[in-house]
Amino acid sequence: MKENRPSATAQRVAIRRAAHVLLDDPKVFDDPVALRIIGRESGLALQADPPQFETSPLSPYLRAFVAARSRYTEDELSLAVRRGVCQYVILGAGLDTFAYRNPYPQGVLHVFEVDHPGTQSWKRARLEEVGITLPGDLTFAPVDFETQTLEEGLRGAHYDPGKCTFFSWLGVTEYLTTEAVMATLRFIASAPVGGGIVFDYMLSPSLLTPAQQSRFDALAQRVASAGEPWQAFFDPALLTRDLQAMGFGYVEDNGPEEINARYFKDRKDGLQVGSLSHLMKAQI
Ligand SMILES: C[S@@+](CC[C@H](N)C(=O)[O-])C[C@H]1O[C@@H](n2cnc3c(N)ncnc32)[C@H](O)[C@@H]1O
Repeated sequence: MKENRPSATAQRVAIRRAAHVLLDDPKVFDDPVALRIIGRESGLALQADPPQFETSPLSPYLRAFVAARSRYTEDELSLAVRRGVCQYVILGAGLDTFAYRNPYPQGVLHVFEVDHPGTQSWKRARLEEVGITLPGDLTFAPVDFETQTLEEGLRGAHYDPGKCTFFSWLGVTEYLTTEAVMATLRFIASAPVGGGIVFDYMLSPSLLTPAQQSRFDALAQRVASAGEPWQAFFDPALLTRDLQAMGFGYVEDNGPEEINARYFKDRKDGLQVGSLSHLMKAQI
């Protein structure tokens, strides 16, 4: 990411979540704040003509994945809260809206939004611009994963390392180096038992078919030209093994078959996720 600049991809994925709310029926992830958080101008343009934002042949697959990963995360979060989790750390939060529609009574689930300082200050200005009040159960923690550890960032935000915590990390690992991803996962593995993480990741190019490779190349070029090139890719079997070695007691990898069977079965519109990314759940 460029120094002190907000992430351009954060706005793009937020627009996809809002487009899902406007275009798809039934919805996989119904976010009542999705339209507001993208800003007044984008919100009005999207409402006026939702399909104009979703013109590429890959758009429905990306929109489906963005919706599915948030749904899976928040489904897992609610199970984690039942197990006693009381802190939720959103890594690379971008324009994630959970904190502004936190369904739990004050004091049950404290939310930490961790993000690159440039994106975080841009988001805070956006929240003010669209009139979204900051809830009491939210703390911002600016962290650049490439130059700071998550532990340092959370320490400054009064995160309690002794409490059961659930983490999410959506649409971020591919923008980091493998070393930064693994260091963060190692820190999370050392958190109290009962917590865990949901994150998504991109498949290693060596595992892709030629057709997947050409979709990968088209998308990689798009994000690189936005100044946020993809850097980290994983092999599901090796990543599972590494997470187990870090100490995660239960690891569940979800590829497109599992995600489509769970969230997109029997739809009349054919909406489904593509095959370049996986969703990982790792419990401590
Ligand atoms: C594609 S956006 C995803 C945002 C959000 N998780 C979502 O799904 O809407 C990528 C996010 O990763 C964050 N990010 C990228 N590189 C980062 C870094 N080195 N340190 C911290 N955050 C980073 C960006 O600031 C941005 O919020």
